[in-house]
Amino acid sequence: LYDSERGLLADALFSQIDLHRAYGGVVPELASRDHVKRMLPLIRQVLAEADCVPTEIDAIAYTAGPGLVGALLVGASCAQALAFAWGIPALGVHHMEGHLLAPMLEEQPPEFPFVALLVSGGHTQLVRVDGIGQYELLGETLDDAAGEAFDKTAKMMGLNYPGGPEIARLAAQGVAGRFVFPRPMTDRPGLQFSFSGLKTFALNTWQRCVAEGDDTEQTRCDISLAFQQAVVETLTIKCKRALKHAGMKRLVIAGGVSANKALRVSLEKMLGEMKGNVYYARPEFCTDNGAMIAFAGCQRLQAGQHFFRQVNWLAVGGTAIRQGLQQPLCPQNQPCRLQGLQALGSQTAGQPAAHANQCNLHNSSLHRCKISSAVSPHSSGRRSTTSTAPLWAAAWAFSAKPPALPPSL
Ligand code: KG4
Ligand code: ZN
Repeated sequence: LYDSERGLLADALFSQIDLHRAYGGVVPELASRDHVKRMLPLIRQVLAEADCVPTEIDAIAYTAGPGLVGALLVGASCAQALAFAWGIPALGVHHMEGHLLAPMLEEQPPEFPFVALLVSGGHTQLVRVDGIGQYELLGETLDDAAGEAFDKTAKMMGLNYPGGPEIARLAAQGVAGRFVFPRPMTDRPGLQFSFSGLKTFALNTWQRCVAEGDDTEQTRCDISLAFQQAVVETLTIKCKRALKHAGMKRLVIAGGVSANKALRVSLEKMLGEMKGNVYYARPEFCTDNGAMIAFAGCQRLQAGQHFFRQVNWLAVGGTAIRQGLQQPLCPQNQPCRLQGLQALGSQTAGQPAAHANQCNLHNSSLHRCKISSAVSPHSSGRRSTTSTAPLWAAAWAFSAKPPALPPSL
């Protein structure tokens, strides 16, 4: 719960790591079912901690994507339902915009403009940021994301999920120099990344050690250190290049991998030499969290860049069916593909090419995400409607003055 004047009032997170650990990674169906269970109790908890009543809330922000469609739909349905019940806007926030702005929740937030390195389990991107909604993609990974490479490398050595913190923990005991890994794509110009080769290099190294009977804890530590050093140095080289390219000395790092201490130390050293500054969020706001989405939603709302859409629902036999959906609006008041990101979004929203070019955020591949097809009414309409019905009921429960909905719900 974020207040534009008082700051972050309360936040809560239920980690599903224990739920997924036994499977070595996220199981989508377990994730979304657990979202249904956890969402409303968490919202109640945050309201109670902040001593806040629903009538004091001006808007609800939710993660519109990219991410796992089932979990996104639960969040979107819940947010839309509560917003409808409380008569306030629901704002779909881009997952990576949430990460990007999270360091602004800290005491000394970065000022615009800056270069941002977004490093999570699904993305590795360098972005030039000139203001809220003014994002230019400078480079991104051609294959695996940095976090994904951490996770896969950890998994092949039999380490726990998520792999990033595990690799970081073992790397602390590693012997430097025993293994040397490549620094992919640093020997040629450009701001693109590639991490899948590094993961394969780690796999080959580990398999060679296993064949030699050297699959010890120390070997795991040594490989972890060599792998982490390679990722950190590669990211540092590209960040330096991006800052030079943009003519800037302010770097923001965000996303799960930005919690990595070795990465922070390396970037701080590089920025220190440049007489610049590096900004990051506290560790719990580097990985996925609700506070960053609330903050990003608030910024969008204040900038007048919100996408309030009226959804009218018809309830039939316990299933809510979308009856009418207003065309979404972008900051320039034009129909825009960005709204495909609204998890209940319609693929029929206009996609004028000229507009896409004006609109940095919409045009960048920050938005070329899986969500637009994943949540299209064609691919997942049935799921969205079934997950929505109980949430409408929940909205009623939350609402002081229940909205007039057909009695069949
Ligand atoms: O942003 P995030 O919570 O979820 C996604 O949006 O993907 O990032 C999760 C990723 C995982 O790949 C995880 O292994 C990685 O961030 N991660 C780390 C560390 N903490 C989390 N990677 C390296 N070092 C860490 N300390
Ligand atoms: Zn994330």
